[in-house]
Amino acid sequence: MTNILLVGSGAREHAIAKAINRSTIAHQLFCYASHHNPGIIKLTQHYHCGDLKALDLITAYAREQHIDFAIIGPEAPLALGLVDHLQQHNIACIGPTQQLAQIETSKGFARNLLTQHNIPGSPRYRNFTELTGVNAWLAELGDAYVVKADGLMGGKGVKVAGEHLHSHQQALQYCEQLIQHQQPFVIEEKLIGQEFSLLSFVAGNRLVHMPLVQDHKRALVDDQGPNTGGMGCYTDANHLLPFITAAELQQAQTINEATIAALNAEANTTYRGILYGGFMATQHGVKLIEYNARFGDPEAVNLLSLLTSDFIAICQAMLNQQLSASLVQFKQHASVCKYAVPKGYPDNPVKQQTIDISNVTQPENLFYASVDASNNDLTLLGSRAIAVIGIAETIAAAETLAETQIQLIQGPLYHRPDIGTAQLINQRIQHMQSLREVAA
Ligand code: AMP
Ligand code: GLY
Repeated sequence: MTNILLVGSGAREHAIAKAINRSTIAHQLFCYASHHNPGIIKLTQHYHCGDLKALDLITAYAREQHIDFAIIGPEAPLALGLVDHLQQHNIACIGPTQQLAQIETSKGFARNLLTQHNIPGSPRYRNFTELTGVNAWLAELGDAYVVKADGLMGGKGVKVAGEHLHSHQQALQYCEQLIQHQQPFVIEEKLIGQEFSLLSFVAGNRLVHMPLVQDHKRALVDDQGPNTGGMGCYTDANHLLPFITAAELQQAQTINEATIAALNAEANTTYRGILYGGFMATQHGVKLIEYNARFGDPEAVNLLSLLTSDFIAICQAMLNQQLSASLVQFKQHASVCKYAVPKGYPDNPVKQQTIDISNVTQPENLFYASVDASNNDLTLLGSRAIAVIGIAETIAAAETLAETQIQLIQGPLYHRPDIGTAQLINQRIQHMQSLREVAA
């Protein structure tokens, strides 16, 4: 019997729990959660609510439950070094050590690593801790710059010229604000193109890539409104995206592989877990926007719902350095995932109100996130509430399935009806076509 600890309790972790539940390998699942997630509770032997930053308490819980290996869902415990803590007690982990997690936790570290190892795909960038040189660098970049706080900011530390910053003066003000908070920052070239993500299973220097996925960071229809944790994602049946070529896929795979080789060469341990590359397809090829050291939320909902092979077997292979492509198979279907989020999210979300899912006809396609079920009702906690997946032969059919179900959830919620629609996808195809024509 294998005892598995899942750390985290969002839709990503619900997707992980469901994938574990489908495994034919004898196991018991334990969860260290931040709140009562009704979807995960049903799939666990034991469920414990606590602080995901309390590394000692999580480690003590893992020891008490005789955990064989742990899967760390969110970034915060990875950033604090939960893996290092657990490994000290001989508990193996799917997730990198604190040192290796810097690929996500420090944007400056990630950019410097790629530069030092001659890995292609970085925009022009400079790291700063003070205002010296900022003006000159902004002058060189002109109107195409992005200012990024160098740390875990939940997506809120990035300000893009033309969207959040409308003059060099505003950019300087933002830099001054960061300096006041002793926050290092990166100023880099603004990339123009289409974003896509490539997640890979990693064991040492061996990577097995997952289907490409596109997230939607903006809160509102047509990519308007503030940045969020992600309002929904889709994947295509051929595991590419409609606006991405096989050559671009290859470039992204090469960047992920070279980055892991560089990370392992620099560190005193090797990477085990998930590497999430966030890329931009541009007229000058594929560029790296950022790395995450974990599954995306809700990317994991799409990807793990499509996984047909045994997830525990994949985890064990990552831990034993036996990872191979033959262990990892995904259904040749498209998927569309949409998040229902509280009204007012992300800036002023309604909280503590109840929602009703009793009209949903395919509850197996729901993934619970920031909702609490401790007193029978489903109560909104303020972050993204419930993700809904549709899986079908085409993106359009998958979109219809997801949209139909999400509309049946009742409460003070909203979602993006445009995610996965032909109209939005055609805009993306046309955008990439026009960039490629200019390049040619
Ligand atoms: P990050 O936290 O680095 O993923 O950035 C959040 C979002 O800001 C990304 O999803 C992009 O939409 C945008 N962004 C970040 N870096 C760049 C860049 N160099 N050029 C254009 N957009 C960017
Ligand atoms: N959906 C983006 C992320 O998980 O970082």
